[in-house]
Amino acid sequence: MSATCIAVVGLQWGDEGKGKIVDWLAADAQHVARFQGGNNAGHTVVSEGRKMVLHLIPSGILQPRVRCYIGPGVVLDCAALEQEIAMLQAEGCDPGGRLTVSPGCALILRHHRELDRARERGCTRIGTTLRGIGPAQEDRTARRAVRLRDVWAGRHADLVHTSVQRANLELEALGCSRLDAAEVADEACTAARTAKPYAGDVAAALIGARQRNDRILLEGSQGALLDIEQGTYPHVTSSTCLASGAAGGLGVDLRPHVVGIAKAYATRVGNGVFPTELDGDDAQLLRAEGEEFGATTGRARRVGWLDVPALRHALAINGCTNMILTKVDVLAGRESVKLCTAYVHGSERSERMVPDSSWLAEGRPAYETHAGWPAVSAKGKLDPAAAAYVERIEHLCEARVDVISVGAEREANIVRRHPLLSAA
Ligand code: IMP
Ligand code: MG
Repeated sequence: MSATCIAVVGLQWGDEGKGKIVDWLAADAQHVARFQGGNNAGHTVVSEGRKMVLHLIPSGILQPRVRCYIGPGVVLDCAALEQEIAMLQAEGCDPGGRLTVSPGCALILRHHRELDRARERGCTRIGTTLRGIGPAQEDRTARRAVRLRDVWAGRHADLVHTSVQRANLELEALGCSRLDAAEVADEACTAARTAKPYAGDVAAALIGARQRNDRILLEGSQGALLDIEQGTYPHVTSSTCLASGAAGGLGVDLRPHVVGIAKAYATRVGNGVFPTELDGDDAQLLRAEGEEFGATTGRARRVGWLDVPALRHALAINGCTNMILTKVDVLAGRESVKLCTAYVHGSERSERMVPDSSWLAEGRPAYETHAGWPAVSAKGKLDPAAAAYVERIEHLCEARVDVISVGAEREANIVRRHPLLSAA
């Protein structure tokens, strides 16, 4: 039996290559849905030499005939959606008729972006993407969010007023100007118009797809270590980044088979603990070779060695035993490669990460050193040294590496077991 619904989730701090993998898998799927996050995501897809970055619309949109969904778990910036639709149209890929946006999405409005920026100018920085994600999610959990359906029904003015009034208190305290609630409400109304032609019942569409036994991909954004509960709190995003979040974020539990994406080394953008971080020339070289600059903000990503205890944690909380390892080509050409296998606290050795920033900061990563490998390509066999590195990761993580990605192009993959097409 082959899988019909797969959740593709990040096992690190985001930027594992989910966009590339979803775009590739979508060639054999009919539906791709986003269930969490917002336009903080930056999913890079390279096909036929063309590079595109998607922030909101699922990466599956680039495959003709694939239907895409933005579930109610996504916080929606309508202006960002409009820009992305225009970008796709300019590239000759019209999402019209293939994109469904849930009316249940909570909106990111101007005061959310302003608050995010004002807070990040202060001294307790998270290093956010400045897209207003955190403040919009706060409104949602405080039960004062403005949803797309509220704007379409014309009942948003009071809701926007309440939300802006609250934001103004904090903006003023941070030395910023107050915003005019009526202006923000008007803006919301204009922006929400773009999304109207795409409105639809995401859960009903996916239930129908399941009944027809269509192949469905659930595209996670960010990664397990940025998860609000299980990540490196407080330096996390404001939503769940785990596969288990998909049921709530879509309105239907599709019981997906979970495929975790991990990069062959580690990166992180923004602040927070990063036990295996490299510095100096080593960091610069890896950053340059891996082109590790944020797809959303352009920031230089912090880089480091692969962290197995963190991966073990990420796999466990996602109920995941199958991985795709990306950017194995980037590590090629080195004499040796390091792998963090445990954290050491005094005489204690831990093989699984505890999601607590202080615990992580107080520990010391223990490494083993592996022989490096020459260039790898999707054609031919994996070099024995690269194969040994992958096998060691599988052994330590108690998980199988099904695909080894060796380049940014859609087809640059060594496929040991196709997640959608192979027999389980
Ligand atoms: P926010 O999601 O913009 O609030 O940012 C919170 C933290 O998550 C910051 O460290 C961001 O850099 C990080 N983050 C959010 N989205 C992504 C992503 O898609 N990739 C990598 N890091 C992200
Ligand atoms: Mg990214």
